[in-house]
Amino acid sequence: MTSTVDTGRAAAPASSPAPPLDVVSLRADVPALASGLAFFDSPGGTQTPSPVIEAIAAALTAPLANRGHDNPAQRNADQIVVDARAAMADYLGNDAAGIVFGRSATQLTLEFARTLARDWGPGDEVVVTRLDHDGNIRPWVLAAERVGATVRWVDFDPATAELDLDQLEASLTSRTRLVAVTGASNLLGTIPDHARIASLIHGAGGPGAGGHGGGCRARTVFWVDAVHLAAHVRVDRAALGADVVVCSPYKFGGPHLGALAADPAWLEQLRPDKLLPSSDTVPERFELGTLPYELLAGTTAAVDYLAGLGAGEDRADRLTSAFERLHLQEQQLLTRLENGLRALGAVLYSAASRRTSTVLFDLPGRPAGEVSLALAAQGVNAPAGSFYALEASRHLGLGDDGAVRVGLAPYNDLDDVDRLLGALRNLR
Ligand SMILES: Cc1ncc(COP(=O)(O)O)c(C=O)c1O
Repeated sequence: MTSTVDTGRAAAPASSPAPPLDVVSLRADVPALASGLAFFDSPGGTQTPSPVIEAIAAALTAPLANRGHDNPAQRNADQIVVDARAAMADYLGNDAAGIVFGRSATQLTLEFARTLARDWGPGDEVVVTRLDHDGNIRPWVLAAERVGATVRWVDFDPATAELDLDQLEASLTSRTRLVAVTGASNLLGTIPDHARIASLIHGAGGPGAGGHGGGCRARTVFWVDAVHLAAHVRVDRAALGADVVVCSPYKFGGPHLGALAADPAWLEQLRPDKLLPSSDTVPERFELGTLPYELLAGTTAAVDYLAGLGAGEDRADRLTSAFERLHLQEQQLLTRLENGLRALGAVLYSAASRRTSTVLFDLPGRPAGEVSLALAAQGVNAPAGSFYALEASRHLGLGDDGAVRVGLAPYNDLDDVDRLLGALRNLR
């Protein structure tokens, strides 16, 4: 990431300067690294640290039933849910009562789009961007189409990879019901200026506060897909100015599920499809069927694991400190990576001033798929594609094939980067 990245929260007052990350012991925590592979595919999903694996196994090893309070098995399930909501609340800067779990970010977004659109009609408008993963585009496009609402598109500049905020501002009207923006592009790493977008939507005073635009757009929902962002930057929903933030723990060492954060009072107003006997309380109202208790236990362990990389009074402070350390570590690797790619004559598409450590590139004259396969043959995982950011890939002129994507995770080290660059050099 660049040094201008907004971590979303003020730094915790650490009692002593944070030591650098101990990447050697961190790598020892990740069993998949024993494969000898160099993993640059973390934007698709991270490798899992042992404490997360152990927490999942422990949840399934102990007595476990459906949530309740009558016996130890029920109480275990209940405690797992309570703990996971508290963990994700710390992770996303939210009230635990506003944390909703689902199968994936995509599933949560599709469900909420259907629910929110019940209240939309012809003449209403939603704003989506071409920088986004399709998981934060298609649910809104489909929902809008279903009720006859209008979809407005915001572009990014292919040369700078920056979202066009003038176009976004021009897209806002008194009928804008929702603005869906990526926390960070999973293709390019771009981190849009969320605080500015929030103030364009709601006015300087925040959601429903009136002021410039606020009076007529007090009900506009600012939806942020933080699936990529939350793996790299300390996320705080209020600091982002977002009404809703979604993320997926499997992008930061956790298991495969999705989590959503919103104000419980706002959730209270929504009426999703649900079964008659299932709980109508918030947030349970939005959680279809039985929750995946073992994955929730793994989610808590993933948050605790990351928090354990930092210092501070409580878990929220430790997470803030951990992300600062991770940022320094990523920055060191990113500099080596980008310099090395440029020296090889690669075309780098990731150019935004605020971005994560995810780099999209091509080697001139080499199809991206071929480069990725050649890397895999040398034990380096760096897939090629559009990674469901289909609109972004097309807008870059890369069609549906995309380019090669390299992402950094806490377990990557300089040796990994050198292996990647060496493998690319062998290609040439
Ligand atoms: C930015 C972004 N949004 C949404 C998604 C979809 O997440 P999920 O797999 O949890 O549905 C991804 C997955 O890669 C992503 O990177």
